[in-house]
Amino acid sequence: MTTYRILILGGTTEARQLAGKLARRADFSVTLSLAGRTESPVAQGVPVRVGGFGGADGLANYLRDEQVDLLIDTTHPYAARISANAAEAATKTGVPILALRRPGWEPVAGDRWTLVDNVTEAAKVLGGAPRRVFLAIGRQEAGAFEAAPQHSYLIRSVDPVEPKLAVPDALYLLARGPFPEADERALLEKYGIDAIVSKNSGGEATYGKIAAGRALGIEVVMIRRPPLPDVPSAEIVDALAAKVDHFFDPVAERGV
Ligand SMILES: NC(=O)c1ccc[n+]([C@@H]2O[C@H](COP(=O)([O-])OP(=O)(O)OC[C@H]3O[C@@H](n4cnc5c(N)ncnc54)[C@H](OP(=O)(O)O)[C@@H]3O)[C@@H](O)[C@H]2O)c1
Repeated sequence: MTTYRILILGGTTEARQLAGKLARRADFSVTLSLAGRTESPVAQGVPVRVGGFGGADGLANYLRDEQVDLLIDTTHPYAARISANAAEAATKTGVPILALRRPGWEPVAGDRWTLVDNVTEAAKVLGGAPRRVFLAIGRQEAGAFEAAPQHSYLIRSVDPVEPKLAVPDALYLLARGPFPEADERALLEKYGIDAIVSKNSGGEATYGKIAAGRALGIEVVMIRRPPLPDVPSAEIVDALAAKVDHFFDPVAERGV
């Protein structure tokens, strides 16, 4: 039996779900790749490799050395560099690529979104007057809000923010989603939050704060998504898994 080697670029819940689905097929050998940012990542259920490849060339070398038959990009929608590297490495090596492109959230009636391009702009649009800000953008870019030290911050992340922000008033919460709307509402009320800074992650797991913000009339400073390469993709895990199945389907292989 031919074994097909699949490399999944992960770091998301969907990557883990996809890996679990594909690993059930006896003719697939699945490896999941993590950047290594999270100190204690949840168990992934398939063999894992950790750490950067060394840019698009490093990833291309890995694909060649490991004789990968299919590359799947299931990284976070804001992980733009690895997605660009993946597309470039696929082109360089001729290894086919598929990607999960989770749709973003759309504003609905009652939402008070202020759209910005990046965290620097987000810190600026909060304005000069002190506010109570819920930062729900992960730890990597939280430091940008040192530029607006007049606000009080509630900062939630999976791993601790290190170093702590050089601002007089910041409270740190360690938590991993999903975050249901009712819990998010209670959190916003408890801390008297009047602005939420968010990425447009899409999906259900982190939408609770957006819905709760809407219900409470709280402004959401929404950081726009970065541009991603245009590669064959699906929006949800099941559809992506079906594409993978089809990809290695004997009929598809003959190009019929
Ligand atoms: N950005 C977010 O908001 C966010 C949220 C949740 C989860 N994540 C996950 O965290 C990881 C890192 O995100 P990021 O924003 O730092 O990405 P990024 O800016 O696109 O990537 C930076 C570098 O990290 C390495 N890298 C990223 N993902 C990798 C993976 N799956 N396997 C091996 N190396 C990887 C690559 O290094 P080399 O160039 O050396 O190969 C890449 O150039 C991603 O896997 C992403 O899915 C990100």
